[in-house]
Formats: sequence, structure tokens, C-alpha cells
Amino acid sequence: MMLQNRVAVVTGGGSGIGAEICRTFAAEGAGVGVADIRLEAAEEVAEQIRRAGGQALALACDVADRHLVEEMADGVERELGPLAIWVNNAAVSYILPFLECTEEIWDRTLAINLKGMFLGCQAAVRRMLPRRQGVILNMSSQSGKVGNSHYAAYCASKFGVIGLTQSLAVEFAADGIRVNAICPGVVFTGMWERQLADYARKKGLRPEEVGPYLESKIPLGRLGTTQDVARTAAFLASDDAKYITGQAVNVSGGAVMR
Ligand SMILES: NC(=O)c1ccc[n+]([C@@H]2O[C@H](COP(=O)([O-])OP(=O)(O)OC[C@H]3O[C@@H](n4cnc5c(N)ncnc54)[C@H](O)[C@@H]3O)[C@@H](O)[C@H]2O)c1
Repeated sequence: MMLQNRVAVVTGGGSGIGAEICRTFAAEGAGVGVADIRLEAAEEVAEQIRRAGGQALALACDVADRHLVEEMADGVERELGPLAIWVNNAAVSYILPFLECTEEIWDRTLAINLKGMFLGCQAAVRRMLPRRQGVILNMSSQSGKVGNSHYAAYCASKFGVIGLTQSLAVEFAADGIRVNAICPGVVFTGMWERQLADYARKKGLRPEEVGPYLESKIPLGRLGTTQDVARTAAFLASDDAKYITGQAVNVSGGAVMR
């Protein structure tokens, strides 16, 4: 098993990609803190893991609130042991024309998607430094590499995630802490279900045409799956990736190549 006896936190672990990372890490031997703003969703994932014989703890946490992030991290360490892996995954996404992007939407997107990563990274680094080892994974996106219309706030936040990742990778390399970002392409999770109609409107498509349209843009010919992303996360979190830091790894079927 790749992550035997490691303790991991995954924010936004209650659904979609985060939930799959939690299940994959647990199957690879990690104890997992499933953190989500929706405690019930986190509990469901933790329960699935325990039923499968793994170790997991559900925690309520709004990643945009420093106090709650620190409290969550303390809770994981109290129950599961010293943190070795921290996955900043929670995010929100809105597709809308730039001039309709209100300050409220901008602030909310940046607060969760970027400040949330900053707070998570500080909580992780503080706890990893004394043991001089740890892995941080920050969920960016193909939208962290390439800008797109109707997507200004989300793209700005995901580009920011890569800058944060590179800076911390350099600052803490000598302390044994690796920091990488993951850049998935389109994965049909709850996030996409909620924004499908807005995307269809932007492209002048019917909602049922969106999937085939998106697939037609992907060299490998299909959308991503939560497993595609979770397997990459498990690799990057493991010692197999011990020479990899400061990277923003595309998991997009060849849609993005930089
Ligand atoms: N689905 C995609 O196509 C795709 C593509 C590229 C990147 N991503 C990124 O992958 C990550 C996971 O996305 P997903 O598709 O699984 O989304 P999702 O909406 O299915 O899951 C996001 C989870 O984050 C939680 N969350 C939201 N706000 C929170 C907060 N303030 N504090 C704590 N938890 C909060 C939600 O409750 C939810 O469980 C995100 O960072 C997203 O930007 C997704």
C-alpha cells in the first residue's frame, strides 16, 4: 500500500473528487480526515471508508475561516495522529459573463478557492515543520493554466493556487515538505451538474450537448473521472513521488499540455 500509516486531511472531502481522494487514500492505508463545510456529506464518506475496513474521521470545516481550519487540523491530529498529507481540495465555481460577476461572487470564489488554500497550507506547514516531512496537494484546474470566458474569478483563483504552490515548494523543500498542484480537466461531479446550464448558455448548446462537446476537445476522447484524479493524488502523496515538488500536474486527457 502506498500510504500505509500516514495521516491525511482532504478538504471538500464530502463529495466528488475530494470524496474519491479520501476513499483512495484510505484504501492505500492512510487514516483520513474528511473535512467539509457539509458535515453530513463528510460523515457519509467517512462511514463508507470505515465499512470498507479503513480509518476515517468526519470533520466540519469552512476552509475560508482560519479558526475552523486550525480546529479541524487539531481534531485530526488528536484522533488519528500527526498529519503527513494535506489536500486542499474544497472550491466553488461560477460560470457567468465577466460584467455580471459581482464583488460578492468574486470575494466568495477567492475566499474559498485561494484564501482557503493559504489557510490550509499554513495549518499544514506549521504541523509538518517539526517532523521535517510532509506532502501538500493543492487542487488547481486546467483553468489554472488557461484562461476562459465567463470564468474570470475561478480562473484567477486557480492560477493563484499554482503560484502559491510553487512559492511554498521552494520555501519548504529543504524542510522535507513537498508541495504540488493537480490540474484536472472536466470531471462530471456535483460542481459540473450545478454549472451545466450556465455552460450550455455560454456556448449556445442544449444541456445534453455539453458532454459530447467537451469530450470532442479532449485528445484521449473522454471526460475525466474522479478516479483519474484520485490515483494521481495518491501517487503524488506517496514516496514514489519523492523527487517531485512545485509541479502543477495536468490530469486532462491531453487537453492541456503546459
Ligand atoms: N469537477 C471538475 O471538472 C473539476 C475540474 C478541475 C478542477 N476541479 C477542482 O477539484 C476540486 C473538487 O471539485 P469537485 O468537482 O469534486 O466539486 P464538488 O462541488 O463535487 O465538491 C466540492 C466540495 O467542497 C465542499 N466545500 C465547498 N465550500 C467549502 C468550504 N468553504 N469549506 C469546506 N468545504 C467546502 C463542498 O461541500 C463539496 O463537498 C475543486 O478544487 C475544483 O475546483 C474540479
